[in-house]
Amino acid sequence: MQMFDAEKIREDFPVLEREVNGKDLVYLDNTATSQKPRQVMDAISEFYEKHNANIHRGVHALSQEASEMFDKGRENVADFIWCLPEELIFTRGTTESINLVAYSWALHNLKEGDEIIISKMEHHSNIIPWHLISKLTGANVKAVEMGNDFSMSMESLESLISSRTKIVAVTHFSNVLGTVTPAKDICKLARDYDAVSVIDGAQSAPHLPINVKGMGCDFFAFSAHKMLGPTGIGGLYGKVELLEEMPPFNGGGGMIADVSFDHSTYAKPPEKFEAGTPNIAGVAGFSAAVDYLKKVGMENVHEHEKVLNRIVIKRLNGMEKVKLYGPENVDKRGAVYSFNAEGMNPHDVAVLLDQEGIAVRSGHHCAQPLMKELGIEGTARASPYLYNTEEEVKTFLDILEEIVSKL
Ligand code: ALA
Repeated sequence: MQMFDAEKIREDFPVLEREVNGKDLVYLDNTATSQKPRQVMDAISEFYEKHNANIHRGVHALSQEASEMFDKGRENVADFIWCLPEELIFTRGTTESINLVAYSWALHNLKEGDEIIISKMEHHSNIIPWHLISKLTGANVKAVEMGNDFSMSMESLESLISSRTKIVAVTHFSNVLGTVTPAKDICKLARDYDAVSVIDGAQSAPHLPINVKGMGCDFFAFSAHKMLGPTGIGGLYGKVELLEEMPPFNGGGGMIADVSFDHSTYAKPPEKFEAGTPNIAGVAGFSAAVDYLKKVGMENVHEHEKVLNRIVIKRLNGMEKVKLYGPENVDKRGAVYSFNAEGMNPHDVAVLLDQEGIAVRSGHHCAQPLMKELGIEGTARASPYLYNTEEEVKTFLDILEEIVSKL
């Protein structure tokens, strides 16, 4: 294992040198989006400065170079999650990836009375596509309960799953609670019932080592921008046998085998699902982000966040007027801390923290059903990443303590 040095990592992230409201920026909103290292920005600039051309459409040198960069980028990102390049579709991000499964696989395989199982801790991106499909097919959506300590209840999943279940679509890492779910067990249970598993990896791919084969999922959705890459690009892993039988999601250039006036046939996956000119510069940035994370080592990222977890959870639990929503066990969660201060609106907490240069998110975090379940309107949420130091999280905790001491 290499030495992990957050201070050294920070040198690659120019924005972290900023001041906000006259204070050093402490960026703790990584669950919303991560900052980008120079290496990612350079990869995007280099593509535009030296190689810009459309891919797979030209015999000229620039087009060949751009195509090669794009294909290598796919290999690199696929390798990061342990799948084959042909099993990785580039999308605009997790939301589009889940919608692709919904509109391509689910719309054509579900009928009235079938069931889609989600969980009570899902992001809207893994709820609304299923509502839309439910409306179109007559399938019903059911939600797995939370267990003790904000875990995903396997007992509840076992009680809901049946021969009617066609899809189990759940998060791997809650964007609100930080709960890491037992994705491997969930996928196995889905398989036992011949249901297709869809794992929302938007928050897990940036923070945990991912091996989709080991997990045994049918689909895994993730976004580049939460893992040091640019916005507007993400991925969908799908098992080849499923991708092969699925119809295209969009129609257009780049996804065809043969086109006549009255019918068309389609390319093999992944091209079948990538109509139109793709986000080529985005792939350059995504691949550079993956290079960066591979170099640091995902085990190291995870271990660093466990260290931060220990500091933050102990201190937050010690603050009388603060309630933390998420697992206590630092080994069963990621570094996302949703909390409320007694009698204070979460947005006010976020504004007071911002005045001290500390960036956190506040609100329902695109998880309104979870907020209703918790009986609250929203939370303030701090979420560090590999470049956040122990000193930074201590600064956040000291200032929060000061804020709540005035209540
Ligand atoms: N899903 C992102 C978040 O939780 C936007 O903030």
